[in-house]
Amino acid sequence: RTIYVLNGPNLNLLGQRQPEIYGHDTLKTVEDLCRANCAEGFDIRLLQSNHEGQIIDWIHEARHAACAIVINPAAYTHTSVAILDALNAFEAPVIEVHISNVHKREAFRHHSYVSLRADGVIAGLGIEGYAAAVRRVCSLLG
Ligand code: DQA
Repeated sequence: RTIYVLNGPNLNLLGQRQPEIYGHDTLKTVEDLCRANCAEGFDIRLLQSNHEGQIIDWIHEARHAACAIVINPAAYTHTSVAILDALNAFEAPVIEVHISNVHKREAFRHHSYVSLRADGVIAGLGIEGYAAAVRRVCSLLG
């Protein structure tokens, strides 16, 4: 059973981009962390795109290929009805992750379209949020 770990725009620069906010670890470290926190019988497919349509296509693919989605939609969190609609067509668990505590930041980051669908939301735990999300999915699905 495969858990899709989807990452939105600018997260390819994780580790280089505003490290005071997002830390020094890279997306490769996030991938290793997800694998390390994955229960037996589950595997991880970590993907990143700077393009909204690509993320939507991966969510559609997940409908038949994934048992759950962990998603950090990055800036699309706050703008994308289209990603919300795609997630609403996905029937298994969805956990939303933000590395930073979006509620401590600018007001435009306080609203999330994706939270209208997410079964759980994690913010401000740094990249450990991904580990927590993967563990939650594994315990939900047994
Ligand atoms: C983010 C928070 C978003 O507001 C921001 O646009 C990001 C990353 C986070 O992981 O903290 O790109 O989703």
